[in-house]
Amino acid sequence: MAKIKDVRALEVLDSRGLPTVAAEVLLDDGAIGSAAVPSGASTGEHEAVELRDGDKARFAGKGVLKAVSHVEGELKKLALGRDALKQQDLDSAMIAADGTPSKGRLGANAILAVSLANSRAAAASVKKPLYEYLRDCYGIVSSEWLLPAPMFNVINGGKHADSGLDIQEFMLVPTGAASYREALRAGAEIYQALKKTLAGMKMTVAVGDEGGFAPQLKDHAQALDVLSKTIASAGYSSAVRVSIDAASSEFYKDGAYVFEKKPRSAAEMTKIYGDWIKRYSLLSLEDPLAEDDWAGWKSLTAELGSSVPIIGDDIFVTNPQRLARGIKEGAGNAILIKLNQIGTLTETVETVRQAQKAGYRCVISHRSGETEDPYIAYLAVALNAGAIKTGAPCRSERLAKYNHLLYIEAALGAKARYAGPAAFALPAHAGRS
Ligand code: PGA
Ligand code: ZN
Repeated sequence: MAKIKDVRALEVLDSRGLPTVAAEVLLDDGAIGSAAVPSGASTGEHEAVELRDGDKARFAGKGVLKAVSHVEGELKKLALGRDALKQQDLDSAMIAADGTPSKGRLGANAILAVSLANSRAAAASVKKPLYEYLRDCYGIVSSEWLLPAPMFNVINGGKHADSGLDIQEFMLVPTGAASYREALRAGAEIYQALKKTLAGMKMTVAVGDEGGFAPQLKDHAQALDVLSKTIASAGYSSAVRVSIDAASSEFYKDGAYVFEKKPRSAAEMTKIYGDWIKRYSLLSLEDPLAEDDWAGWKSLTAELGSSVPIIGDDIFVTNPQRLARGIKEGAGNAILIKLNQIGTLTETVETVRQAQKAGYRCVISHRSGETEDPYIAYLAVALNAGAIKTGAPCRSERLAKYNHLLYIEAALGAKARYAGPAAFALPAHAGRS
């Protein structure tokens, strides 16, 4: 038993220069763990609440001093003297203390910071790498250590850039690489080649929030054409595929998808995605339709779900109830996982296991507002998630995760196996209609 001796918090800044919560948990055996929480921009309606001060005199209302004071007040009081190795108990106690379904009273940012920092302190206390400790903590038994396939967001649109593109993310996924290390190399080489291609087209090579380029292209098909050509010219045609995250809730207005300046129905969007899947051999499709368009999701999954994984982000928000509805109704057939959408480590792990049990693939994800904390790299390996999405191979808050996966791969040595294309295999019932 390692008792929690102190809990501290600070308001720090994320990659957009906006405030976020960092916490530190200290144990009586001298072990320390810290963590910083990320923050989204295309935030789902149904996410747990990110508590912000609303005091316009500081950071235009975006300060997090209230959340920090909750960590150092109520959450610290509840944590002191507890066994840090009992992560589930700590998380349940924090959920109960908050008392709201969306963690709106104490703030999911406050709760998650403590939850993650505690797990790190516990891992330090038992002197195990975090990926190994997390398996012990949640009783995950597996002889496999899967290094996730990285999804590199190299062209940014939507709320993450002023490129004029409605689709938020165009990603490169090196499924055919022999190892994680080689996958990272492929992503980085194509990223550099893309920079040259765009410069040659007289486009800007300034980057968006996740490190991807933000060129003012003619339309979305041109983005996909440029990517396909660049992958081929860099010599990776057979090894690297393209995925998109439409983040379509952001362009869903008054019952229609305002895409390329015209209002369109879910069926019309489905046809556009279907054409892209064929023409560009897309690997996966995330948030093709809006977060509450369940009927649209069902029809789209029936139509396209036997071709590619249909990944739910804003529709599921890492929430077990919303995921259960999706599984039951055949809306989507894979899930994006973000710790701060639900607000504790334990709930996140439970959602992943629920998804895996249903045969759904999981993509562990960063947020557009990130910090230097590489936590999700360790989580992805602990859970054999198979895929990770953490931006372009550019900007250190993104590379912190990608580089830590290199350290993990090296530490695991011959035990490490690259997830490859299996990370995007479809569940047995995919596309049922
Ligand atoms: P967000 O974007 O962090 O701004 O929500 C990431 C995503 O939509 O996957
Ligand atoms: Zn998304």
